[in-house]
Amino acid sequence: MNSIKRRNFIKTAILGSLASVLTAKAQANMATPRDAQGPFYPITPQKDKDADLTKVKGKSGTAKGQIIEIFGQVLDQDLNPIEDVTIDLWQANTFGKYHHPHDDSEAPIDENFQSWAILQSGTEGKFRFKTVMPGAYPLNSPDQRTPHIHFKISKFGYHSLLTQLYFPDQPLNDKDGLYGSKSKEQQVMMTAKTTAQKNVLKYDIILAKV
Ligand SMILES: [Fe+2]
Repeated sequence: MNSIKRRNFIKTAILGSLASVLTAKAQANMATPRDAQGPFYPITPQKDKDADLTKVKGKSGTAKGQIIEIFGQVLDQDLNPIEDVTIDLWQANTFGKYHHPHDDSEAPIDENFQSWAILQSGTEGKFRFKTVMPGAYPLNSPDQRTPHIHFKISKFGYHSLLTQLYFPDQPLNDKDGLYGSKSKEQQVMMTAKTTAQKNVLKYDIILAKV
């Protein structure tokens, strides 16, 4: 190889590796998209905020509705797990009612539904909780929100994230203003995935570093 050819070869190699670095950067995973907080973040103190929302400590009953389990991992944009993340989640009960003083719909409260949980991601950023399928709301409205669970996620060193988990194959998804405002790619990230187990869904959360 003469010197000109060698120079061109080196130049091509450098440009090639630079391009692959840039491509790798462009391919970093998108963080979970943000969504509206909504009007019903809990304001009434509640002692029981554990990972089983179908039972309330001190009460013998079980929440009404379809019991589901949701598990997943909190990851950074390179898909490394993040441990000790605070996962604050709240949702409507099976009737589409929030346990919140500002929810004035006529849908009934379910005293056996915990409605709010604060979890920590554990080993490998994993979390799991048991709840009921949230109802659409408001009751009898032509503009019902599709079923969803609100999440507020925080971890030092990462952008805090307010988002909503959506469910697959929900007929109201296509009519929901918030869900509809997202791109297809965002909708995929915000929608829990079915698994081989009935009523068990997978939902991963990706956080962006500060
Ligand atoms: Fe909501």
